Amino acid sequence: MKTINWGIIGTGRIAHTFADALENTENACLKAVASRSLKKAQDFAKNHGFQKAYSSYSELAQDTDIDVVYIATPMASHYNDTLLCLNSGRNVLCEKSISLNSEQLFQMHDLAQQKNLFFMEAMWMKCRPVFLKAKEWVNSGKIGEIRYIKADFSNFVSYDPNDRLFRPDCGGGALLDLAVYPLTFSHAFLGVPDEIVSSANIRSGIDVSNSILLRYKNGAFASLDSGFEVQLSNNAVIAGTEGIISFGNWFHCTDHVTLTDLYGNVLEDFICENEVNGYEYEVCEVQRCLSEGMLESPLVPYSGTCDVMRIMDECRRQWGLVFPGE
Ligand SMILES: NC(=O)c1ccc[n+]([C@@H]2O[C@H](COP(=O)([O-])OP(=O)(O)OC[C@H]3O[C@@H](n4cnc5c(N)ncnc54)[C@H](OP(=O)(O)O)[C@@H]3O)[C@@H](O)[C@H]2O)c1
Repeated sequence: MKTINWGIIGTGRIAHTFADALENTENACLKAVASRSLKKAQDFAKNHGFQKAYSSYSELAQDTDIDVVYIATPMASHYNDTLLCLNSGRNVLCEKSISLNSEQLFQMHDLAQQKNLFFMEAMWMKCRPVFLKAKEWVNSGKIGEIRYIKADFSNFVSYDPNDRLFRPDCGGGALLDLAVYPLTFSHAFLGVPDEIVSSANIRSGIDVSNSILLRYKNGAFASLDSGFEVQLSNNAVIAGTEGIISFGNWFHCTDHVTLTDLYGNVLEDFICENEVNGYEYEVCEVQRCLSEGMLESPLVPYSGTCDVMRIMDECRRQWGLVFPGE
């Protein structure tokens, strides 16, 4: 596999974690990082061993040494940052949630297609061995027909009006930050729902908690809760007519998934400990796609990202929640 030159836009929390994964993944070259502040970019570059530091996102986008840009800015910036990179000829891996709404996503994808460039949401959960094992069990009929999915993602976070999580202008709120995981999870196993019933607690222009119930054509349900107000264990269950798959706490990043029969007897236990910090699987998937000349990842295809974004659009429509500038 060829060496892939990575650029990173934004130097916040997740950018550090992702850079740690790059540092420890074969064939990844840490080429450049960009921040709105040169000092932050230089500190980040020094900390992680990037070759170049830029004081603007556009300088990095124009760097022809870079094969792919990882966009690690708040949701409301993803649209402009992605268009900037694609228009400059760079492939893009963009953090979740990939955009504020499906109209933005459609335009981002359209440009990627026009430019013949790779474009993917950084939905690392779908690249992880535990998730792929559960897919394998479901596809091989081990739990029969899925009738019910339960997935939670709720973390207690103290209110801070300056944190992007609570800022409407950043695309804050539990829906785009957390619910995107349970929604992506249920979509991966059950597809597009027939009915969406949702409710949210809206405060200062963002949803601090939400509850989403999806009903599918075959009568299956998915029940998904997310928020910043309470701490849940954040596990997930897929219940079928012949068995049950249970993900450990923090289902999106757990290293443990169990297959049981309808009476609770364990049939298979799958444990896969991270080689680095869990993001290495996503890095490898992007590098594999780029090496093989693919424009999208079969693990995180645009169609799935788009379906989930449409569900989130519908939830916000039901809540009457609009982001500034929409
Ligand atoms: N995959 C995961 O596990 C995971 C985990 C956490 C977050 N995320 C996603 O990653 C993205 C960033 O999250 P984060 O927690 O890293 O956020 P963060 O700590 O607030 O960092 C965001 C960075 O974006 C840049 N930025 C550009 N415009 C900004 C603005 N208007 N306000 C604030 N920052 C701005 C800043 O970098 P500069 O100052 O250097 O320009 C900032 O440090 C979000 O989309 C989030 O959903 C993913």
